[in-house]
Amino acid sequence: MGGLLSKEPPDLDSMFNKFEKTDSKSLLKKHLTRQLFELLKTRRTGLGATLLDVARSGLMNPDSVVGVYVADAESLTVFAELFDPIIGDYHQGFSSRSVHPAKSWGNLNAIGDLDPEGKYVVSTRVRVGRSVDGFPLNPRMTAQDYLDVEGQVAVTLSTLEGELQGEYMSLSTIGKARRKELVNRHLRFKEGDRFQAAANACRFWPRGRGIFLNSDCTFLVWCNEEDHLRIISMQPGGDLGQVYRRLAAAVDTIGGSLGFARHPRLGYVTFCPTNLGTGLRASVHVRLPRLAADRARLEQVATEHDLQVRGTRGEHTKAEGGVYDVSNKRRLGVTEFQAVEVVQKGVLALVSAERALEG
Ligand code: ARG
Repeated sequence: MGGLLSKEPPDLDSMFNKFEKTDSKSLLKKHLTRQLFELLKTRRTGLGATLLDVARSGLMNPDSVVGVYVADAESLTVFAELFDPIIGDYHQGFSSRSVHPAKSWGNLNAIGDLDPEGKYVVSTRVRVGRSVDGFPLNPRMTAQDYLDVEGQVAVTLSTLEGELQGEYMSLSTIGKARRKELVNRHLRFKEGDRFQAAANACRFWPRGRGIFLNSDCTFLVWCNEEDHLRIISMQPGGDLGQVYRRLAAAVDTIGGSLGFARHPRLGYVTFCPTNLGTGLRASVHVRLPRLAADRARLEQVATEHDLQVRGTRGEHTKAEGGVYDVSNKRRLGVTEFQAVEVVQKGVLALVSAERALEG
């Protein structure tokens, strides 16, 4: 083969042929049959997104759990025969006819402090993922799109007032030392996730990427990491209510001026289909040393309450000192309030199970 030819990226057909032979356990492998592949491989959205944009990460990483990303809002419709069964599998029971409910923060005062004595809960965080209406998502974004999204986001954030007021730092302009400090304080996202990179989500880095931080470090926005926006409210301790109220206020203000992309059936558009719907993950770091020694009981309480339990430092990490990251499993087919309420009830149940073991 000539030098020029060998530099060509593998085409969709040969990637799929190779993928077909793997024993991948991903939802992509389960649902992208040869027949469906042939049906979808020539389709295109108005912004030019193809099956390659959607499935590239999963085709290149057979160890994916899901394996697909949303290339633009329209790709959810154009490639519905692939997305719908994957979404149905991940967000248990959300069928191709289910409709995600309208946004509802609910009774903000019905969410409270999960640990007023400060004995169990280390910290509390609620985030949402959002896309700015009218822009493609990562695989179809140009360098200019990244800059335009960042420009709009930075302008909007500069109008925030009160406790939300803060500073936007573009990663391309802040110095190395500052970047390192943000990483060490767990405030900045990491670069180069291999699943995202394969989906063409890390191009032009660090262009258009940045972080907004208020002065108390209780409110953050990540710009152009996995999603156009990750809006994050967090603080030490267990006051989920306070964290939730701060997030709701911020999301409404930011959304009112930017305009978030929303799919008529699937709710807010996010890059990863695991985040569709509310885009909301409420996570509580909770110290459960006795349950840590009784994993079966921990899993049982978590499953009963529809919770996802992760290690201390998030996805695919271990629990350090019996501290678990406990969050809502479902983000689609439930309201914002329901998603947060699940965590409130679940954490209270975990704490009482831990107490029971203290005797
Ligand atoms: N695409 C990856 C997979 O299928 C990640 C999925 C969920 N994680 C995320 N950060 N969106 O395994």
